Parts: sequence; structure tokens; C-alpha cells
Amino acid sequence: MKTVSLTIDGKKIETRHGEKILWAALENGIYIPNLCGLRDEAESVASCRLCFVEVVGKEQAVTACTEMVTEGMVVNTRGAEALRMARSGFELLLSSLPMDCAHCVKSGSCELQKIAHHLNIKLKSKRFRKLLRELPIDDSSSLFTYDPNKCVLCGRCVWVCRERLGVGVLGFANRGFQRVVTTFAGEPFGESKCQECGDCVSVCPTGALTFKNGKTEEE
Ligand code: FES
Repeated sequence: MKTVSLTIDGKKIETRHGEKILWAALENGIYIPNLCGLRDEAESVASCRLCFVEVVGKEQAVTACTEMVTEGMVVNTRGAEALRMARSGFELLLSSLPMDCAHCVKSGSCELQKIAHHLNIKLKSKRFRKLLRELPIDDSSSLFTYDPNKCVLCGRCVWVCRERLGVGVLGFANRGFQRVVTTFAGEPFGESKCQECGDCVSVCPTGALTFKNGKTEEE
């Protein structure tokens, strides 16, 4: 296997040729905020805009999930510009989420809490005006609950259902602020073609898809 040597935050690492910075960093214990990336995806959709890093020789910060490693590359995940961009994106995202961690079963394993801690941002950030969608919760599946109000539109569930499992029950509907992950024709999960494999719940980074009975993983 052809390998590439690079430096991330001063740490010399070796990784596979063709690897993206995000996965090389995470595999070596260097955290970079991310929501939409999935390791199995050939090409990241790069929609969350949280994984910004700085690369020596590049004028602008780049998204770590799309930038391929190169031999001798020097990456800084804590550069001021990269952090500024990630913080702005994250605070904008928070402005449309309810952030009721005290009553959320995902609390403690939610990616939003991890990102907030990493970026040193309060989950109840008031930088942008709060605008909530107030969508109905779908409790019709016997396995899980879907709360679209907590969805960050990362698309991980859509991708696993379609690409990994070949089922395709989930998709995006509407545009802009009304954009939502939903089943075909918006039918409740319990009445859809959902096979209740639970893989969409496992990849959900927030409390949008949660197993019933407070489980954090399928048992
Ligand atoms: Fe890179 Fe979402 S993980 S843009």
C-alpha cells in the first residue's frame, strides 16, 4: 500500500495515499469538527462546513473532508481563520436547533456537544437570532423516534439508507429553511418501506434519530 507522510498540528503521521485530511487526522487522534462526513463515502458532500483546516502554502482554509493528503503536507487544525469559519458555521447551525440537552437521550454522545466543547462555543449561543422549525415528531417506528427539529441535515442517514443498504427510504425535501429529511411522500416511518435496520439511527450525529428506550446503539 502506497503511503503518504504529513504533519498535522505538529504531529508526524503516515496514512494511505489518496486519503482525505479528515480521516487521517481522526485516525491519529486529532479531532476536527465534522457532521456530514462518512468514512465509506467515496466523495464527501461537504455540506456542514465545519471541518475547516489550514494547509501551509494554501491561501484559504480548506474543508478537511474533501482535501486529499499530499507528501510533506503541513496542516494546522487550530489556525485562526479555520476556527473563525468553523465557529460561524456552527453558531448559524445552532440558531435553528432547539438545544434542549437536559431532555435529550443523545446528551453525552451528541456530536453537537463535542463540537461546541472543541470550538469553545456555548450551545445556547445567542450570536444569531433563534429561528425554530417546530416540526412534528415521528414516533411511528417501533425501533426509533425521528425528531426533525434536531436534524442538522448532514445527510448521513440518507446516504446509508440508499448507498449502503440499497433501500432509499429517506431523502431531502424542500429548500432553504424548510429543507428536511423525510420519507417518500412524507409518510410516517411506521407506514413507509423502512426495514427498521437502525443504521440511520447509528450514523445520526444528533438527537434527531434515536432508538426507543434510551438506547444509544442498536442491541
Ligand atoms: Fe467536511 Fe462536513 S465534514 S464539510
